[in-house]
Amino acid sequence: MSYKRTEISPEEIKKQLNICADIRAGFEGQSRLALVETFGCQQNEEDSEKIRGYLCEMGFEMTEDEFSADLIVINTCAVREHAEMRVFGNLGALTHTKKDKPQQIIAVCGCMVQQEHITEKIKKSFRQVDLVFGPDELWRFPELIKTVMSERKRVFAPGSGDGCISEGVPHLRSDKVKAWLSIMNGCNNFCTYCIVPYTRFRERSRRPEDILDEAKKLVADGYKEITLLGQNVNSYGRDLDCGASFAQLIRQVNDIEGDFVIRFMTSHPKDANEELFAAMRDCEKCEKHLHLPLQSGSDRILKAMNRHYNAEKYLALVDKVREYVPDVVLTTDIIVGFPGETDEDFEETMRVVEKVRYDAMFTFIYSKRVGTPAAEMPDPFTREEKQIHFDRLIETQNRISEEKHREYIGKTVRVLLDGKDREDGILTARTIGGRLVRTAGDESAIGSFVNVKINDCNTWALRGDIV
Ligand code: SAH
Ligand code: SF4
Ligand code: F3S
Repeated sequence: MSYKRTEISPEEIKKQLNICADIRAGFEGQSRLALVETFGCQQNEEDSEKIRGYLCEMGFEMTEDEFSADLIVINTCAVREHAEMRVFGNLGALTHTKKDKPQQIIAVCGCMVQQEHITEKIKKSFRQVDLVFGPDELWRFPELIKTVMSERKRVFAPGSGDGCISEGVPHLRSDKVKAWLSIMNGCNNFCTYCIVPYTRFRERSRRPEDILDEAKKLVADGYKEITLLGQNVNSYGRDLDCGASFAQLIRQVNDIEGDFVIRFMTSHPKDANEELFAAMRDCEKCEKHLHLPLQSGSDRILKAMNRHYNAEKYLALVDKVREYVPDVVLTTDIIVGFPGETDEDFEETMRVVEKVRYDAMFTFIYSKRVGTPAAEMPDPFTREEKQIHFDRLIETQNRISEEKHREYIGKTVRVLLDGKDREDGILTARTIGGRLVRTAGDESAIGSFVNVKINDCNTWALRGDIV
């Protein structure tokens, strides 16, 4: 496959930062408030941090209150219908805020707007929206917002599909302990149910030196957990000419001095390999966790999904990673009710689930996405029939998750304290395998590594005391 990457020059980004300075000067010292709301995956979270970074350069302060915000940015997700419905609900509600505050600017960005029928709908039915821009246009958000502000006209810039890559866009990170680090963008896999390759375009990798520079800065700034992000991290570097690979990248990040954890997602089973497993084994900072989306355990359905593996291959991969990293935590994604999925197909999925015994699972009922091949496939089963399978899968996984959590009781594990439960004030932490741990402790300890003796658990979390 030929790759197309358009690198945005440092001069272009500098130009955008100059526009930010102009906007800031225009505010003449008056405070302006902005709200950025994010739907979807970690890549979108990371994009929102860049939008906030630009906004900060423009002189905006962040708020959570949509009524006092001068500017609202909604960063959308298109992966399932449910996500889109939430965005439309949200947009509808913003008619009220704009009535109260006619000068308010509303921008919509992210994966949804990369679909023509959605942009059209926003144009026609959501007239309160002033600006629309796709993920690929984020680097020039300042110039777009300037046009809206100075010309007071609606601007639509969904993006061309070139698949660009930019360095030097400022970040305003939302956390002090954990940081997202995007190592690549886009996806080449075209799983037949999935919209992502159409909204994020083709795969393009950032250069290893840029990623390492960013990782070093994060460590110097005191971050304790760095999550390397990509739709399929195992194909990292294939579009570069320097022979970089994801396993090498993990090793290089691991060599950065400091006490921190490296996490990563997502690994496509067709590309996860022994080179990665060896890096996971050898690198003391690398998490011992692999998120390996199965999607289905039926060979027939996997073929229809264009996943390029079958159940046997997948199970062999699981055996292999367990050979390298015996205590590896395994998690997965499963879609229930893909077009034409029969009882027999579903039983195949259950068989793999019982065999692998995942630590945790994300389950989704198939959602039809306009423009994907699966949307054209006959889908004779009802929502109710799919729901029965879905409930059974969740019930089975909950049982397995709890059984696996029970195995921790009595053990002492090293965890990174990463936050506090807003409701009950209990501290939250993650094991090196990424399992959630809840423990009593002082807030000042957040950001440190401690040992916790596990004494209780449920399906979702482990519970213990700091020793
Ligand atoms: N690149 C990652 C994540 C993609 S989106 C990967 O390949 O795993 C996250 C998950 O959403 C997918 O793993 C899949 O299980 C689910 N998903 C994607 N499209 C979907 C659809 N149309 N309906 C239901 N679930 C979907
Ligand atoms: Fe979607 Fe498949 Fe790409 Fe993941 S690998 S983003 S599921 S097309
Ligand atoms: Fe959603 Fe786009 Fe992420 S569709 S899951 S926000 S890549």
